[in-house]
This record gives sequence, C-alpha cells and structure tokens, in this order.
Amino acid sequence: MIVLGIESSCDESGAAIVCDGIKILSSVVYSQISTHAPYGGVVPELAARKHMEAIVPVVSEAIQKAGISPKQIDAVSVTQGPGLIGSLLVGFSFAKAYAFALGIPWIGVNHLYGHISALNLEDNSPDFPFVVLLVSGGHTSIYYVKSNTDIEILGHTLDDAAGEAFDKGAKILGLGYPGGIIIDNISKQGDKNKILFPRVYLDKSLFDFSFSGIKTSINRYVQNNQTIYKEQLFDIAASFQEAIVDVLSFKLINAAIKKQCERIAIVGGVAANSRLRDRVKDDAKKHGFSVYIPSPSLCGDNAAMIAANGYHYLKEGGRSNLTDDVFSKVLVG
Ligand code: KG4
Ligand code: ZN
Repeated sequence: MIVLGIESSCDESGAAIVCDGIKILSSVVYSQISTHAPYGGVVPELAARKHMEAIVPVVSEAIQKAGISPKQIDAVSVTQGPGLIGSLLVGFSFAKAYAFALGIPWIGVNHLYGHISALNLEDNSPDFPFVVLLVSGGHTSIYYVKSNTDIEILGHTLDDAAGEAFDKGAKILGLGYPGGIIIDNISKQGDKNKILFPRVYLDKSLFDFSFSGIKTSINRYVQNNQTIYKEQLFDIAASFQEAIVDVLSFKLINAAIKKQCERIAIVGGVAANSRLRDRVKDDAKKHGFSVYIPSPSLCGDNAAMIAANGYHYLKEGGRSNLTDDVFSKVLVG
C-alpha cells in the first residue's frame, strides 16, 4: 500500500510517500525556522500562512522524488491533532480534497502516535510490546505500546514539555531559537556537573513529569550572575541539559521495569538530543534492555511517520469522513 503522508501540526510542512508503513520512498520537510526565529518562538498566524504557501509544492516534490504518479497513491494519511489549529487545518483540508479528487481513502492520525511510528521506518524496529518515551516541543509522555494501534499511556507532563524547557532555557541564556539543538551542541564543551539544577521526580506520580521548576531555576541563576562568560555558558547549558536528561532516562527505565518489558525507545524532536541518546543507551545496558531510537531526521516532525502510522489504521479499514475536524489538544498525553 502506497500512502501519501501529510504533516502540518506546527512549523514544519511535510509530505512523504511511504510503502507498506515501513519503506520511505520520499520525505520532504519545509522548515519555517527562519520565519519564526526573529520572534523567539512559533507565531501561529504566520505558521498557518507559511503552510498555505508550502502545501502544494511540498506534496508535488514528495511525489516527484518518489518517482511515482498520483494515480499510484493508494491512500492519504494526515495529522489531525494535536497542534496549532490554523496549521493543522491547512494539511487536513488539503488531504481531504486531494483524497476526494483521487477517489481514494484517507485517515486523520494522532501526531504523537505518528512519532512512535517513526520507529517502524528504521531497519531495526522493536517487537511488541515496548515502552516508549515521547519527548517533543509540546509533549512529554511515556507509553506502553502493545501493537501499532494499541497504545497505553503511563504518564505525561503536568506542565511544560521537555522540548519547551530546552527552548525556554536557551532563550533565557540568549542562545536563539530553536534552542534545543543549540544547548545540545554547546553542552559538549561544558561541565555537566558544574551547577546543580533541580530534578523533579514526583514520588507519588512515578511516570509523570514537571519541567516548569527548572525554567525558573535557570532564570534565577542568570539573574543572580549578571556577567556570564562563554565558558560558563557552556557549563550552564551542560548542567541544565543533564538535569532534564537525568529525569527522562530515570522515568523511562523505571516504566520498563514496572512493565517487565526489556525493549525501550525514545521518539520526538528531543530524542535527537545526543546526551539523551547516550544516557538512555548507558542506563539500558545496566538493565539488559534493548534501545530503539529513530535517526535524528526522523525524530523531528516529518510526514513519513504520519504515513507509517496511518497505514495500520487504513489496513484495518479505518477511514475519516469529510465532516471530521482537527483537534488542538489531547485530553491526556
Ligand atoms: O517533535 P518536534 O519536532 O515538534 C513537536 O511535535 O513539538 O520537537 C521539537 C522540539 C523543540 O522543542 C526542539 O528544541 C527540540 O524538539 N529539539 C531538541 C533537539 N533537537 C530538537 N532538543 C534537545 N536537543 C536536540 N538536539
Ligand atoms: Zn512532533
């Protein structure tokens, strides 16, 4: 089954052609970073307008790069939510119209489950069940994945997402946007044990997260240290990153222990973080767990993961209707 995937939940316009939910024939992502960078974050109205400009070219490019004709597309899978309403509407409306015009089925999928399906696009994907940590700009959750369509949530963030903490921390340090990758890069030159930032483990809520405190903590640190030299900046970034990574890895490992599951995975934009990848691998080794992490290009938002996810619902006969609408939030997740 050849599926056209479409992703437009935030600030990346993506289109991809994926065969049988596992083989990427093409995946094209138009990033809007340069549009939003001057504002230090995503401006929803601008994001929607940029998606409008990009949607037709990005889909055409994906089809052309896959070397297929539109007639060979069997179905369309598109992000239905969560995300920015204006952005989601562009991809979702396009997908409806495109599938209707071609007379093929289409399905709206959950962006978060799409991130999990990115694992299927690697040669070495995990058998079921596995425990996965989803770490992105808007979400931080742990799931127990029993099959491609049977996913149980074990915990989620009670306030900020890990990616949001990275981005806000970077903003406070004056590092630019998006900050996660900048913190990752400069931390390599810093001492991760130099400053003790708070780790919130939420004893009574074992698999939930809270990252709002660390944001306040780095803000206070910067206010109390008016002159920060370059070397100190590296130490602050490395120490800040380590505090986030400590909690993420601890909770993932403990969730796997609780579920007696020896396969663990990390997905989402923050799963591209080099320290998190190393740390989870090290911690997993101590427990004899196998670790699965998509390559960095499949961690950030892309349409191949949306095609890969939709494939399983379509195969089971899942179909969306022309009257279906996008959603901005998931109740838990
Ligand atoms: O999954 P994603 O592309 O979009 C959402 O669904 O939110 O995740 C974006 C988030 C941003 O907060 C970005 O700063 C963060 O992922 N990110 C990173 C790294 N690369 C992207 N955070 C830490 N280290 C990285 N290398
Ligand atoms: Zn995402």
